Amino acid sequence: MNLETVRSEFKKHFDNTDGFVYASPGRINLIGEHTDYNGGFVFPGAIDKGIIAEIKLNGTDKVRAYSIDLKDSVEFGLNEEDLPTQGWAKFLFGVCREMIKRGVEVTGFDTAFAGDVPLGAGMSSSAAIESTYAFALNELFADSKIDKFELAKIGQATEHNYVGVNCGIMDQFASIFGKEGHLIRLDTRSMEYQYFPFDPKGYKVVLLDSVVKHELASSAYNKRRKSCENAVAIIQKKHPHVEFLRDCTMEMLNESKNEIDSEDYLRAEYVIEETQRVLDVSDALELGDYETVGKKMYETHHGLSKLYEVSCEELDFLNDCAKKCGVTGSRLMGGGFGGCTINIVKEELYDNFIETTVKAFKEKYERNPKVYDVVISDGARRLA
Ligand code: GLA
Repeated sequence: MNLETVRSEFKKHFDNTDGFVYASPGRINLIGEHTDYNGGFVFPGAIDKGIIAEIKLNGTDKVRAYSIDLKDSVEFGLNEEDLPTQGWAKFLFGVCREMIKRGVEVTGFDTAFAGDVPLGAGMSSSAAIESTYAFALNELFADSKIDKFELAKIGQATEHNYVGVNCGIMDQFASIFGKEGHLIRLDTRSMEYQYFPFDPKGYKVVLLDSVVKHELASSAYNKRRKSCENAVAIIQKKHPHVEFLRDCTMEMLNESKNEIDSEDYLRAEYVIEETQRVLDVSDALELGDYETVGKKMYETHHGLSKLYEVSCEELDFLNDCAKKCGVTGSRLMGGGFGGCTINIVKEELYDNFIETTVKAFKEKYERNPKVYDVVISDGARRLA
């Protein structure tokens, strides 16, 4: 992410003047995967990779946007029927529309943006765009009156209504609320959250990107969500207070096992177990017990792979390599179907882990996995 590049591209592309500059990050998630649309807990943190956007009002009723990375321009109006065709522009349009739906008078602006969150790697490049523009439009058009939760919800609603992914709130929440050096445990039912200092002394946190992108990831994601809702609907018959899988125990799930579709059962089993794992990891973090954190991460990977079925061969391979190299914790991160594993590794094992895994992956898949060291950083903000 480079502020100077965005500044100079904005000048070149528009009328040679300066606007305001905003930034929002991508995220990691320590544990709590696919729990955020089940009323459960998540444990994300913002990272040092994100989106930078420059914005200036243009006195018209049109948005003129330029993606510096894609070298692609678009112009769109602000009414519902003006939805642009380019995928990247839908995020921007969606944020404008969701603002307008909340009574904000958005008018035309010029904007250029660039980012360094790897696309499709499970690090939430889309939330980074949404949060950048939600934060910016709030300052420019709403006197910053919209609170931070609502900004996150604007990003989430953009995914639901303009992108077609029925995502939870984790990514947008992390991108808005991120804090340097801290992970955030969020209860997605009550929306209570707590910052946890995250400085695992003697360990490194590293992402290994399989560079696999699953074409059907969003429909598979929506299907997982539906399975969870199906299971809840059946359990509710016996337990009317149950609102989410978060409220269910394995006993409750098993009581209705015969009525629940076998695939939906596996999905629900994973979510119920994962909800408990996040709580176990919180306790372990308070004690600085990274061995327990790591053990839970391996359990999560197993569940995501065998019960939730959102892994892929390459991610399972990376997870296996980690285990063989004595890595403390490893699991696939984010929605799945490709993307990264997140690994907590003892410093003295780091070099060997990376070297061995990159070599083995290359031999098997004839390409290099990418390696990203994790730096936990701040959330959405104005840069200039
Ligand atoms: C994607 C979604 C999130 C969350 C994760 C899985 O990143 O955007 O809301 O559901 O997948 O934990």
